[in-house]
Amino acid sequence: MSAILPAITIAHGSGRLLPDRQACRQVIERARWAPSGDNTQPWRFVLAEGARFAVIGRDTRDEVVYDRDGRASQLSLGALLESIRLAASEVGRRALITPLDGDQRQPRWMVALVGDPAARPDPLATQLRRRCTSRLPFSTRALPTGLRSGLEAALGPCHRALWLTGARRLRAAWLNAGFGRIRLIARECYQVHRHIIDWDDRFSMDRLPVDSLGLDPLTRRIMRWALADWQRAELLNRLGCGTQPRWQLDLLPAVRCGAIVAVAADRDPDSLDAQLAAGAAVQRLWLAATAAGLQLQPLYTPVVLGRYVREGRRCFAADAPWRTAQTLTARWDRLVGDGADRLVFAARLGFAAPPPARSIRLAMDEVVMGSGNASTPPLPPALRPG
Ligand SMILES: Cc1cc2nc3c(=O)[nH]c(=O)nc-3n(C[C@H](O)[C@H](O)[C@H](O)COP(=O)(O)O)c2cc1C
Repeated sequence: MSAILPAITIAHGSGRLLPDRQACRQVIERARWAPSGDNTQPWRFVLAEGARFAVIGRDTRDEVVYDRDGRASQLSLGALLESIRLAASEVGRRALITPLDGDQRQPRWMVALVGDPAARPDPLATQLRRRCTSRLPFSTRALPTGLRSGLEAALGPCHRALWLTGARRLRAAWLNAGFGRIRLIARECYQVHRHIIDWDDRFSMDRLPVDSLGLDPLTRRIMRWALADWQRAELLNRLGCGTQPRWQLDLLPAVRCGAIVAVAADRDPDSLDAQLAAGAAVQRLWLAATAAGLQLQPLYTPVVLGRYVREGRRCFAADAPWRTAQTLTARWDRLVGDGADRLVFAARLGFAAPPPARSIRLAMDEVVMGSGNASTPPLPPALRPG
């Protein structure tokens, strides 16, 4: 074991001795509450010797139309790595994160938790477990200027918040409902949605609980029926029955919020590193919003479909959804203005109570390899640094 990785450190505030293995597990336990598209949790962990563990990422481009370029998964991984840094500060350590060999589709990192007597818990760390996605209506009370400045500061120096408030917020809500229509008529979207809703549990370990979607009981039943079979979904679309879910899922929530924020990177965000940085910034903004009593829901569809349209990456076989995506992107870009081509994220925010249903996470034993085993074997060669 390296001399700079003491086997035992003192957990802040408790005066308790926290062995390396326990520190790793505690950091992973907290950090895995990072957000991920549709709660896919594109990460696994391998405990190594001492206070080290590997993070194994993967993207969902083969399964998920919203992740065809892997950027959504990479953003989630960026949020996870930032969460690891924050969680490490709670156990009196600093997380040194080093990339390991691995391709873009399966990026990997080695995390070393270095004892740091000067480290103080980052206040955002206390929000890791509280932060969540709320898809319900929020108060329309405007966000005070000071609060907006605080959220901008949380983003850090390389990302900018573009606020859509007042009439622009309502136009954004309307466009968001337009993007929602694409989600209903495109078969590629249907193939995602049919798998991601958990119809039975209020707290879903690997999907979105239906209770978190804010649907009335009738719409919920119609959606459940339609999502069982593409022919049914098509029939409902032909009969014009998509309006109701679109109102409830997209228009109403986007109208009922205090602000819509788009996050733009200072530079072209088209690389793994840029998306990791974006994920870290977004996670800090989200945690700061949580600390301030705000709820947040990502509005990622305009961001991702806009990117596909600008890059000419046709993601739908049928013409209609693709043409609609092109038209809406042109409008969305005009609305957002400077920075629209560098967007990494967008969200609605507002004051509200936490939602009564939420996604939770896979059990630790499912995501941590080598856990609960004192004689964990060393990392497999492919995961070793250098
Ligand atoms: C890249 C990314 C895109 C997301 N897009 C959306 C979205 O468009 N709409 C939405 O309701 N939630 C979206 N989410 C939120 C996830 O569904 C949510 O983080 C996940 O289900 C875990 O739930 P939690 O955030 O409550 O912990 C997105 C999250 C990430 C990281």
